[in-house]
Amino acid sequence: MNAQIPRQLLRRQLLVGGKRRLAGDVSRGFSSSVRQTQQQTVPPKIPRDAPATTHFGFETVAEALKEQKVGAVFSSVASSYDTMNDLMSLGIHRLWKDHFVRNLNPGRNPLTSPPSSEQGWNILDIAGGTGDIAFRMLDHASTINNDAHTRVTVADINVDMLAEGKKRALQSPYARTPRLKFVEANAEKLDMIPDSSIDLYTVAFGIRNFTHKDAAIREAYRVLKPGGVFACLEFSKVNNPLFDAVYKRWSFSAIPLIGQLVASDRDSYQYLVESIEKFPSQTEFRDMIRKAGFLVPGQGWEDLTGGIAAIHKGVKPAK
Ligand SMILES: C[S@@+](CC[C@H](N)C(=O)[O-])C[C@H]1O[C@@H](n2cnc3c(N)ncnc32)[C@H](O)[C@@H]1O
Repeated sequence: MNAQIPRQLLRRQLLVGGKRRLAGDVSRGFSSSVRQTQQQTVPPKIPRDAPATTHFGFETVAEALKEQKVGAVFSSVASSYDTMNDLMSLGIHRLWKDHFVRNLNPGRNPLTSPPSSEQGWNILDIAGGTGDIAFRMLDHASTINNDAHTRVTVADINVDMLAEGKKRALQSPYARTPRLKFVEANAEKLDMIPDSSIDLYTVAFGIRNFTHKDAAIREAYRVLKPGGVFACLEFSKVNNPLFDAVYKRWSFSAIPLIGQLVASDRDSYQYLVESIEKFPSQTEFRDMIRKAGFLVPGQGWEDLTGGIAAIHKGVKPAK
């Protein structure tokens, strides 16, 4: 209970106060440099040490601040995350996740796979949060491929999301087995994962929150075995303009409102819809995957529900 109080305060500072504080800092910085420029009457110079910026939803923030602000969002939504997902997507996220996993077909089926010294797949579910993808992967490997060896490491930067995942794992057959592991990690720097050790890297609705998406994709490439697969399920760009208008109206009006009514947290859900808008298009994201060295099959992605979400895949070339 007590641990909640500082977290709530931190969240409020980062989500609300942060906007004002950052705006204040920036404008203070500008006004002092303007004053200096006027006094010295020399042409204004762009400061060489100006901090790099990125977006946090529609806000521009210093790169160093984004991780904290994203952390505050997910700490705030962790306990209501699964319920809110169902409400916001009208349950459709479950169908997308089922399709994502079925299509990847995790696990080594002893009847159809060539004999191998390795047992099962080693799967890394990045930004795995409350474990939605991991549980589906393990269920699929066990029930469809009769594979009781495939294992999933759920890695997430946020301890509150991981705690919800661990709680959910207790209701599954995988709790306290070597098949399921939870690790606190930043997708951009996976030092604890050896090179070429992973068969399948998944990231679902996580990558749009990363500060340096390109660094995370490079890390995916590093940790995957040759022939290993990078698979990303993420919100994307709707293809039909009419459907897009309806979808945007729903997401920008209903989602923050549901967040306010159900989770008493409008700001976090406002960020979530803004972050979807800022995420690259299907082709831009496909090109980022290619740039990291992956082979991209076909056009590189599959649209789901008219492009509300998309699955992108890349294969690390076999040497
Ligand atoms: C929208 S949730 C998705 C959770 C889960 N994959 C799902 O599909 O339900 C996004 C997750 O990304 C995590 N995340 C954000 N930035 C991260 C980073 N740099 N490294 C690892 N995880 C990150 C958040 O903590 C959060 O748990």
